[in-house]
Amino acid sequence: MLSARDICKSYRSQGVETPVLRNVSLDIEPGGFVAIVGRSGSGKSTLLSVLSTLLRPDSGALTWQGRAIDHASERVINALRRKDFSVVFQQHQLMPYLTAQENVLLPFMHGLRPVKREQTDRARECLARVGLAGKGERLPGQLSGGEQQRVAIARALATSPAMLFADEPTGSLDKATGQGIMELLAGLNSDGPAVVLVTHEPAYAKLARTVAVMEDGRLTIQA
Ligand SMILES: Nc1ncnc2c1ncn2[C@@H]1O[C@H](COP(=O)(O)OP(=O)(O)OP(=O)(O)O)[C@@H](O)[C@H]1O
Ligand SMILES: [Mg+2]
Repeated sequence: MLSARDICKSYRSQGVETPVLRNVSLDIEPGGFVAIVGRSGSGKSTLLSVLSTLLRPDSGALTWQGRAIDHASERVINALRRKDFSVVFQQHQLMPYLTAQENVLLPFMHGLRPVKREQTDRARECLARVGLAGKGERLPGQLSGGEQQRVAIARALATSPAMLFADEPTGSLDKATGQGIMELLAGLNSDGPAVVLVTHEPAYAKLARTVAVMEDGRLTIQA
């Protein structure tokens, strides 16, 4: 459903062009779980940004459900991000002055319109899904690092996306807590979004169905 073909991306700084992605191809099926691994600087975050439409490729094709999106208009891209794609970052990026539940409701807040009852219900359901039932009224500062990351995942799930992108979502957590987050993401997968995850940790990558290795801008699919 999400397909990348021969994606190339370079960064230019001070007149020097550095290729970061060289003819990268990857297919992500519904319900898929892909882990992208590779050493620091190999281009993992750049690839995730291209796949999640945060960054446009220089060349190559990105198609979503058969439709080319690499040159789609801002309007189309924004609609895609609102509805079908969600991203979780290493730092959870929660609003510190909003409760866990309000943070999960953020994707539903447009302008000054009040959130609807079913959206509040959905937020509560997502918090329960990540193991935080009953903690919706806490501020991020009253939650552990692992719990804060779970809130960020609940927020990413609130809009029922088809694709969840995560860049080192366990990066700021200890290993046991990180393992819990990984198991949560792996478990979502049977009835939830397809997951594309960047990780440094080989043990975490084992939970994925497909492991893709970035090396010198090239991607090799392992399984
Ligand atoms: N905005 C940018 N402008 C110029 N160069 C960049 C930019 N972003 C990343 N790079 C360079 O592109 C290369 C790949 O970066 P990227 O962040 O994709 O690597 P990564 O595999 O995610 O690394 P890490 O594991 O450390 O997060 C690096 O050499 C980096 O310095
Ligand atoms: Mg990175």
